Amino acid sequence: MKKVHRVTDLKDCLAEERQKSRQIGFVPTMGALHDGHLSLVKRCIEENDVCVVSIFVNPTQFNNKADMETYPRTPEEDRMMLEAAGCNYLFAPSEKEMYPEPDNRTFDFGLLSQVMEGAFRPGHFNGVAQIVSKLFDALGEGINAYFGEKDFQQVSVIREMVKQLDMPVQIVACPTLREVDGLAMSSRNRRLTDEQRRKAPLIARTLAESRRLAPDKTVSEVIDFVLNTINNEPLLQVEYFEIVDGNTLLPAGHWKETSYPVGCIAVYCGEVRLIDNILYI
Ligand code: PAF
Repeated sequence: MKKVHRVTDLKDCLAEERQKSRQIGFVPTMGALHDGHLSLVKRCIEENDVCVVSIFVNPTQFNNKADMETYPRTPEEDRMMLEAAGCNYLFAPSEKEMYPEPDNRTFDFGLLSQVMEGAFRPGHFNGVAQIVSKLFDALGEGINAYFGEKDFQQVSVIREMVKQLDMPVQIVACPTLREVDGLAMSSRNRRLTDEQRRKAPLIARTLAESRRLAPDKTVSEVIDFVLNTINNEPLLQVEYFEIVDGNTLLPAGHWKETSYPVGCIAVYCGEVRLIDNILYI
């Protein structure tokens, strides 16, 4: 695996790969890699000739300074995991490399970036769009880019960004990987204390139970069930739980309003903010 820090070096390496007609696949990450990331890398390797993984903790997508500072960073472990997984290029730029000057672009993704995560993390998706568009530019045309469905809204926003900027990139959304007790894999899980870690799987368990109950309940009954069950646990506090149409992200008042109902949740477990989602079909 070759480690590259500069955009120009990455472009040079990929130009050589393209000369050999190799298909390039890309997995953008913020590091602190876990098996969820590795499942994206594995899929990227299966479906492409060349696999590029980026590690960059992007400052512009954090609306909370403390969250940015405490975001886990494990560069050496990450490098070893990627090497073992068979990644070809690790792109690990500095902040100066990605933002030689401030990025003042403002994107308009309408509702897609205003609801749920967008409402509770103002500016977050603008920052995601800034960095992902820069990374896509660095990777060049015709790539396949892999994202986890745990960040359901992020995938919708990135698809919209690619459409608006007319970027020749294929977005591939991959299923959420879970720990054996159901907790969605996340870099943030490492920040949970032992006790919080024991309680956190209630989020996924409750979502799964709500799907089992859904055929006999209204949307608002399912929402109440999820909110009450999770908030009943003193170590967990739901920030939002919404059942939305998976394409528009508009709240679904009734099951018949959408053929693609998805429940999206954010929960505080102490200081750690966890997200998850479930499909109700
Ligand atoms: O999902 C993430 O880890 C980040 O939001 C991403 C896509 C790497 C952009 O910084």
